[in-house]
Amino acid sequence: MELLDQIWANARKAQKRIVLPEAEEERTLRAADKIIAAQLALPVLLGDPVVIQKQAAEWGLKSIEKAEIVNPRECDKRQAYIDLLLSLRKHKGLTEEKATELVNDPLYFAALMIKNGDADGEVAGAMNATGDVLRPAFQIIKTVPGSSVVSGAFIMILKENPYVPGNLLVFADCAVNPNPTAEELAQIAVSSAQTAKAIAGIDPKVAMLSFSTKGSAKHEMVDKVVEATAMARKMAQERNMPLVIDGELQADAAIVEAVGKKKAPGSEVAGIANVLVFPSLEAGNIGYKLVQRLAGAEAIGPVLQGMAAPVNDLSRGCSVSDIVNLVAITANQAAGK
Ligand code: ACO
Repeated sequence: MELLDQIWANARKAQKRIVLPEAEEERTLRAADKIIAAQLALPVLLGDPVVIQKQAAEWGLKSIEKAEIVNPRECDKRQAYIDLLLSLRKHKGLTEEKATELVNDPLYFAALMIKNGDADGEVAGAMNATGDVLRPAFQIIKTVPGSSVVSGAFIMILKENPYVPGNLLVFADCAVNPNPTAEELAQIAVSSAQTAKAIAGIDPKVAMLSFSTKGSAKHEMVDKVVEATAMARKMAQERNMPLVIDGELQADAAIVEAVGKKKAPGSEVAGIANVLVFPSLEAGNIGYKLVQRLAGAEAIGPVLQGMAAPVNDLSRGCSVSDIVNLVAITANQAAGK
């Protein structure tokens, strides 16, 4: 089965409640209609029910009649969410007045629904910037125990390719941490291996990328990647998690067998890596976009990893099918939680 078919099948089985805070937005509403019709998940639409139903009728979106619509300004649980937000953020100086105002914001409301157990995951970002989607999730849902860093992975589905058997790679971090420390990079590596296994269905072989292979260059940026590789091994050992990882490796040493053998002889990853951990957000974000555009790869994500419950961020240029697929991925993450 193709990867996306598998992800859809898992989502259908799981029937998770995925909250869509931007439901008044056209692509999101069209995606919700498809999700309900395909029984992919149970979407919870945030917004004014009158506006949503009117738009649905105008656009002929029949399945929206069956949707659960919640208006953050009129919901029965509003006061409970204000109290929950206060209990989580009072020590950061949050006042009752500010909490009341924040609960009107669908992005805060969605994170509070998840924290309160009223939804299993969230997809947003069709009309909000990455930081605005992530901040409420970081503040309210927080990270999974044992991790302090949320990062964003892309599953890259490549066209037929001589270097990648199965044509699947996982790239991280391409979305969140501008300049990770060695410890953060190690956590990104461990989370990415888990995402590769759980979502992409591949046996992870993690390459910690750099501009140097096994000491070919000397620089503090190289030292950071070497240190992160050792830390990731230790973290995995402490969690009894098998982790095949090596670094520092250049991109060609990571994925081209002949180059890997020459530059990093004896490595169990060099030449056959399928999870590429980039040393910074600049490298990761530029890298995935170049592969997407120049090699015609399909880039699925960013799949946010390390959060206590799945929240995923769309690009503002997303299509309806991007939203539908990200909801399916979010449901898979929620099912594996
Ligand atoms: N993992 C977990 N928690 C985090 C992380 C992280 N990576 N980053 C911040 N936090 C937490 C902080 O600990 C803090 O928690 P607290 O308030 O309970 O103490 C809270 O989030 C807010 O932290 P700030 O440092 O104030 O966060 P800020 O809002 O400044 O930045 C953000 C966070 C928005 C994610 C920032 O790192 C960012 O802008 N990253 C780049 C995002 C981006 O533009 N990506 C590229 C586009 S995406 C794409 O192309 C696919």
